[in-house]
Amino acid sequence: MDRLNMEQIGEKLFKYKDFIFPLELVTPEHINSLQTFEIRDSDVFLVTYPKSGTIWTQQIIISICELDGGLNEYANNCQQMAWLEYKTKEDLSLRPSPRLFTSHVTPPLMPLGLKDKKTKIIYVMRNPKDVVVSYFHFGKVLTLYETPKIGGSSWFDHIRAWYLNRDQYNILFLTYEDMILDLKGAVTKICRFLGKNLSDKGIDQVVEKATFKNMKKDSKANYEFILKETISGDFMRKGRIGDWKNMFTVAQSERVDRMGGSNPPLFFTPLLLMI
Ligand code: A3P
Repeated sequence: MDRLNMEQIGEKLFKYKDFIFPLELVTPEHINSLQTFEIRDSDVFLVTYPKSGTIWTQQIIISICELDGGLNEYANNCQQMAWLEYKTKEDLSLRPSPRLFTSHVTPPLMPLGLKDKKTKIIYVMRNPKDVVVSYFHFGKVLTLYETPKIGGSSWFDHIRAWYLNRDQYNILFLTYEDMILDLKGAVTKICRFLGKNLSDKGIDQVVEKATFKNMKKDSKANYEFILKETISGDFMRKGRIGDWKNMFTVAQSERVDRMGGSNPPLFFTPLLLMI
């Protein structure tokens, strides 16, 4: 029945509950099942709008948990921080704790149990102009998409939905820009939020593993393990703030500014002003 409510977009995508998914990885039934997916207090969720620093934050969370001890081993970061909304052969409800998850979806699609506020969620956002540029390049090399169609929702809706509903969750907000400007500070914040007591040396080790240069060489973290038939380019492209300035016209930049609304919520402002 849910298939009646899904709207196919081109050959490869479909819209369901205001979110656009790749047909190859997601079904409406699976999305519905997430509502009752049983979560545990010890689970950790990373949520992002695509291209906002997801795999970077995965690397940080995983490195912190690894140093803290007790993390089960998986082949790579993608398997270690399983994607909530994508179909997998593995039954994630049987996975031993501690479990780490990643997701791009909006609050209405998330497991309802998260509203108990015990399970931790880390939400990373990035200047939408840099997200557009990153997504533009990614869309060209990802075979799950058809240029110029992409998955997800409006960046503004995503950020707004998570930020305005923040009181319902145990959630830490971070920005990609803060991570670029002060990686150690961001790692320390995440560590504290997760309740992990790493030494200063431990924090430095995590920072080292998460630098662009080192992560690019890390076969568990750089996503080069994704089949070339799925992505024929780099997940780790430039890793900088402000690449939009090389791509946007003044008119395009102003258009994004206007989309924030005439009275953008305060939290947009630093992101939109970030250079
Ligand atoms: P660019 O395309 O602007 O280079 P996501 O993981 O959400 O898909 O985001 C991908 C973006 O994060 C890419 O941005 C990628 O280069 C950047 N990124 C990944 N690892 C990074 C790191 N260690 N430091 C800085 N940026 C990183």
